[in-house]
Amino acid sequence: MESISTDQVSLTEIPVRRLHLGDLRDCLLLAIDRQWLPEEAKWRLLFEIGEAYGIDDPAGGLAGTVVLARYGPGLAAVSMVLVASRYARMGLGRRLMLHALEQARGATVFLTATRYGRGLYEKVGFETVGTVVTHTGNLAPRLEDLKDTGVRLAHRDDLETIIALDAHATGAPRTRLITRLFTFAERFRVAERDNVVVGFGAAWRNVDGVVVGPVIADGTGVAQGLIAELADGVHGQVRLDLDSRHAELTSWAVARGVSPAFSTALMVHGGPLPGRHDRLFAPVMLALG
Ligand SMILES: CC(C)(COP(=O)(O)OP(=O)(O)OC[C@H]1O[C@@H](n2cnc3c(N)ncnc32)[C@H](O)[C@@H]1OP(=O)(O)O)[C@@H](O)C(=O)NCCC(=O)NCCS
Repeated sequence: MESISTDQVSLTEIPVRRLHLGDLRDCLLLAIDRQWLPEEAKWRLLFEIGEAYGIDDPAGGLAGTVVLARYGPGLAAVSMVLVASRYARMGLGRRLMLHALEQARGATVFLTATRYGRGLYEKVGFETVGTVVTHTGNLAPRLEDLKDTGVRLAHRDDLETIIALDAHATGAPRTRLITRLFTFAERFRVAERDNVVVGFGAAWRNVDGVVVGPVIADGTGVAQGLIAELADGVHGQVRLDLDSRHAELTSWAVARGVSPAFSTALMVHGGPLPGRHDRLFAPVMLALG
């Protein structure tokens, strides 16, 4: 690997270090440098739920970042793989990824990759197992979508049931993340059938609109009811990250006003992914699954 000298300091000598909330501003500046939105609420959640790592830029700020979120000992998500444009193709992305994998300590690690990151992830051993298509637009549910959905507000009393449904779908305990949705999300709902909770969903506000996710349900009909209730009356853009396997749900959502914006590859290292992914209709966000 070529040696990079910036003001006499070689970047290869600068260690990957754990980042803290005090580094948030530099993370946002790095995101802007790569034409990503400065998604402050999202980064704050990632700092809370996960572990952020970075490489300091000798010239000030951060030269690169990566976030690892663990769900118990067996599963982890990687996100926010960013390297400052001025240090592109110098090996920092690879170092950050290898650090995250080392920290994951043998867990199955997943991520969703844009076409920019895919080559790097393949090089460090990730395999593509699916496609997620991000849909955006004004999602307007029809009257019939909101009839007899069995959807109601999620209460603290539902937490144990929701965590169990989530663990069944994702194959891992995501207790902290799911608990945090009560305050992070603008809307948090459960779907009941015969007085039994068979699904749940949330919607949260990002800088460019409202993200509907997670949506976990025992079937497409329940997922549709949840999405309809979560998107009903939302002003502005709604975003839905839909696994391409959910063709019926995708057609339903498109007929209500969203359109495909871009797609990402679902990639796994040390796989296969645990859980019942047929029940996971939308992630909390791509960064967390
Ligand atoms: C993707 C990104 C993190 C790569 O970081 P980097 O430090 O430039 O990557 P590295 O120098 O460590 O590259 C390691 C390998 O990854 C692959 N790779 C990296 N950038 C690539 C590109 N633009 N096109 C194709 N392959 C690429 C190559 O195989 C490369 O090895 P090589 O240079 O020996 O050919 C960086 O380009 C970036 O921050 N992009 C913007 C944000 C982004 O898209 N992040 C990924 C989201 S999923």
